[in-house]
Amino acid sequence: MDRGMFSSGLAVFFATLGSAVGLGNIWKFPYLTGQFGGGAFLMVYLLCIIFVGLPVMLSEFYLGRKSRKGAVGAFATLAPGTGGKFIGKMGVASSYLIMFFYSCVAGWVYYYLIKAISGDFAEITMESAKAQFGSVVVGPLTPIFWQFIVMAVVSAILIMGIKNGIERVTKTLMPVLFILIIICDIRALSLPGAMDGVRFLFEVDFSKLTGAAILTALGLAFFKLSLGIGTMITYASYFTKDNNLLGTAAKVALSDTLVSLLAGLAIFPTVFSFGLEPGAGPGLLFMTIPLVFSQMPFGNLLLISFFFLTSIAATTAMLSLVEVPVAYMTEEKGMSRTVAVLLNGLIIFGIGILATLSADKSSLLGGVTFMDRGFFDWFDYLSSNILMPLGGLLIVIFMSYVVDKKSIKEELTNNGSLNLNAFLPFFFIVIRYVTPALLIIIFLNAVGVIKL
Ligand code: PHE
Repeated sequence: MDRGMFSSGLAVFFATLGSAVGLGNIWKFPYLTGQFGGGAFLMVYLLCIIFVGLPVMLSEFYLGRKSRKGAVGAFATLAPGTGGKFIGKMGVASSYLIMFFYSCVAGWVYYYLIKAISGDFAEITMESAKAQFGSVVVGPLTPIFWQFIVMAVVSAILIMGIKNGIERVTKTLMPVLFILIIICDIRALSLPGAMDGVRFLFEVDFSKLTGAAILTALGLAFFKLSLGIGTMITYASYFTKDNNLLGTAAKVALSDTLVSLLAGLAIFPTVFSFGLEPGAGPGLLFMTIPLVFSQMPFGNLLLISFFFLTSIAATTAMLSLVEVPVAYMTEEKGMSRTVAVLLNGLIIFGIGILATLSADKSSLLGGVTFMDRGFFDWFDYLSSNILMPLGGLLIVIFMSYVVDKKSIKEELTNNGSLNLNAFLPFFFIVIRYVTPALLIIIFLNAVGVIKL
């Protein structure tokens, strides 16, 4: 069966970057960096990227391209009968949890783009910003409708396949995203008082660098680079034979971090220039941004650019998430691609409604919580804080103890055509000792066994 493949190194880069760049850059990263001590948090985040993120990413690239299979098939092919398949199945399950809430937030973003285009934010005030966001979340039909649209768009692209769907869309839209974010940056940084925002993002404050901050940095590194759930395994199974895996991993991690910083530089100078408090998460994206952008010249145009680039980010990340169960169902269950995509679109939309309804505190599900968390928060917490790091841990253990070193060396050097003599010994030590040690400490902390 022809499973499809990316056509060039550039296509590999943009598709993989499209997975990494998402709501995480524009929503989670800037806010968390500001909250946990700016430059100090950034340093820890970069260390997490280097010692945990990159090794896990490279391991996933190996598993995917060597086996030419998705999250479950890769383990079954490379080490049949070892139970490794369980890691892949856990990945498929985690990808669903992420998609349930991710598709909900992506729906809000699409709706805000349409609202910006139709000029709905022209006369916005603090009160009406709150009311507008309220009316998005509290539908119940509006957010469910937009969640459906997200799934329809993503499914349509995926049905077109790897080359004509994922590759074409990411290759066209990722450069657009870069241009739009730079336009927003230029405008934001030229506002009076912009430097306060820059300071908020970069000022090194070690007193805010608590155990919780370190944990958050690690979780963010996983979420940002789409790791631990088989997304990168699945994408790497479509990589070209001669792709330099280490080069791709480094370029994607670097560019993704750059997009996060550029997003922070578009958001905080603007927020500070208008004398507002940098509020948390959804509030920042959906209330503060429309409010401050609409108050400056060419504000609506910028607002359209901002929500367009956020829509691109959310959509290309969703493509890679849905591809995980799609690859699983086509390879392991023998479904056709179209049937697998449609079936998954329906499952994600159907169960994702729970996340959407639970984000609306006034709906029937709004008050439904288990141990203080509603569906939305549970999906987010379980996937980012538990399943992704756990998946990452199992992957590096699998790489260190099950897979043959020679096979890893062959794959990463493209059968000897790249010289990685200086890098490989370091890589083997990191995945065997450093990455697992860091993950175990942080994981035990997350479940409350030790207290950092
Ligand atoms: N990396 C994406 C983001 O930052 C989220 C994501 C996680 C995508 C896992 C795919 C897999 O928004």
